[in-house]
Amino acid sequence: MAESAAEIHLPPKALLQLLADGQLHSGQELAGVLGVSRTAIWKQLAKLESVGLELQSQAGKGYCLPGGLDLLDETHIREGLLARVNAAVGQFELFEIIDSTNAWLMRQESFSGISVCIAECQTAGRGRRGRQWVSPFARNIYMSLRMTVETGFGALEGLSLAVGVAVANALGDLGVTDIKLKWPNDILWQGRKLGGVLIEAAGDPSGRCHAVIGLGINLNAEASMTREIDQPWVSVDEILPVPPGRNESVIALLNYIVPVLESYETEGFENYKSKWEALNAHLAQRVSLQTGASQTSGLVLGVSESGGLLLSTESGLEVFHGGEVSLRADA
Ligand code: BTN
Repeated sequence: MAESAAEIHLPPKALLQLLADGQLHSGQELAGVLGVSRTAIWKQLAKLESVGLELQSQAGKGYCLPGGLDLLDETHIREGLLARVNAAVGQFELFEIIDSTNAWLMRQESFSGISVCIAECQTAGRGRRGRQWVSPFARNIYMSLRMTVETGFGALEGLSLAVGVAVANALGDLGVTDIKLKWPNDILWQGRKLGGVLIEAAGDPSGRCHAVIGLGINLNAEASMTREIDQPWVSVDEILPVPPGRNESVIALLNYIVPVLESYETEGFENYKSKWEALNAHLAQRVSLQTGASQTSGLVLGVSESGGLLLSTESGLEVFHGGEVSLRADA
């Protein structure tokens, strides 16, 4: 079972920031900078293991985190955002550790504008279909955005697909080309999963409600994650020799996603339909669709005006909408 964020005690941020350079630091230096005893430092360093970080110590020389850490930095992110995006983002929360950025935003009272929650790691990251989203410390992107709409859940139809288009654009700017989208909300690279979108909604289904849009992107995923992920996956550092930094990645993603959220209630999916079609990983392929206990096979024709999947089945043209649907290309 996932350990709760409250049960994990991280060392002070200043200690993480010192060790983030991947260089050796003596116990004396660390103790001096933080103004605590070497014994206190040693106790703090022991906590790094609780989030899966492997500290190396060299007798007489000190400690290091091999490979360093690419830590998130709110000021850096805010400075990189387009002016209109900065203005649209009200609440911005950056956690070192949280259960789930989606869950955290779902727990919040309503704020004006768009809220953003990002974390270095999640102890109970949520994937679709009740799956866990593996979220090791300071490696990937775990980010959620929350928006309010006045016209009910219907206004959110197709939103996960529109966000997928925004993510593909952002990844393109970061140098990751050849992105495809798997309906309804997987981000694929050469058939392997690079990321996913999870949208949760609450409030009045036909009035004022809010949506939390969660995004996970594998940026510097570690091989050990394979043990916990039940499908082929890929990480940006496998695709690009020099992967973008985590802060740059968050900036690019927000600069594309926030404008989509700002205008979605008035503009809807129509603007994104043809863009999504162009990125459709399964266009003109035969697929099987699992919806609850029933399975339907058909040829993928595209998506409807509201983002439903259009399948040509033996009963004719059928449209499938969100929910717990899984889609696998037939062999
Ligand atoms: C999927 O299953 O493909 C969707 C994965 C969504 C994962 C992200 S990580 C940030 C946000 N917080 C969560 O708990 N889940 C989403």
